[in-house]
Amino acid sequence: MLGLKLPTDPRWVNIVEKNIEEILTDHAFCEQKATSTAISLIVSFPEYTELVQEMTALVKEEISHFKMVHDKIIERGWTLGRDRRDDYVIELMKFFPKGGSRTTQLVHRLLYAALIEARSCERFRLLSEELEDQELATFYRNLMVSEANHYTMFLGFARQYGEKKEVDAKWQQLLEYEAKIMSKLGNSEAIHG
Ligand SMILES: [Fe+2]
Ligand SMILES: [Fe+2]
Repeated sequence: MLGLKLPTDPRWVNIVEKNIEEILTDHAFCEQKATSTAISLIVSFPEYTELVQEMTALVKEEISHFKMVHDKIIERGWTLGRDRRDDYVIELMKFFPKGGSRTTQLVHRLLYAALIEARSCERFRLLSEELEDQELATFYRNLMVSEANHYTMFLGFARQYGEKKEVDAKWQQLLEYEAKIMSKLGNSEAIHG
């Protein structure tokens, strides 16, 4: 599914279920970061008209996801806490070398976004299938569909703006690299933890 090389161990859901407040907090920040990523692509690459149009729509969609998660937190009587350290993202960033042409930088940012969407989608699917809390399971099923579309969009833009063969090769390397990161994770109540 989604090209990911290492599926999440379903036992991760057991960890999540013990601390719904924590997973919702982490998830809220994921949606916030997805919004920021879309805005920063508009700021950095204004001349890519089609990208700017799609990112403008994405900003609205991701901030609406943030609100949906935030509403869940409020409904359950909690208050959104501070952001958590995201080891997954820290490790993922190390894959991409600094510098390179403007196009290379754009392709890297698109692949990075595609991968985060793909892994989020995989985790949401697992939550939708395994959570005992049916209300939350339905919530995650709906979000899973959105994130799958985002994954396809980011990967499509990377192939469109970069050199397709090179992009595909880099994507495969990134998937291998990500599988190594994931082999050490899957043990905390974080969307990518
Ligand atoms: Fe989202
Ligand atoms: Fe997304």
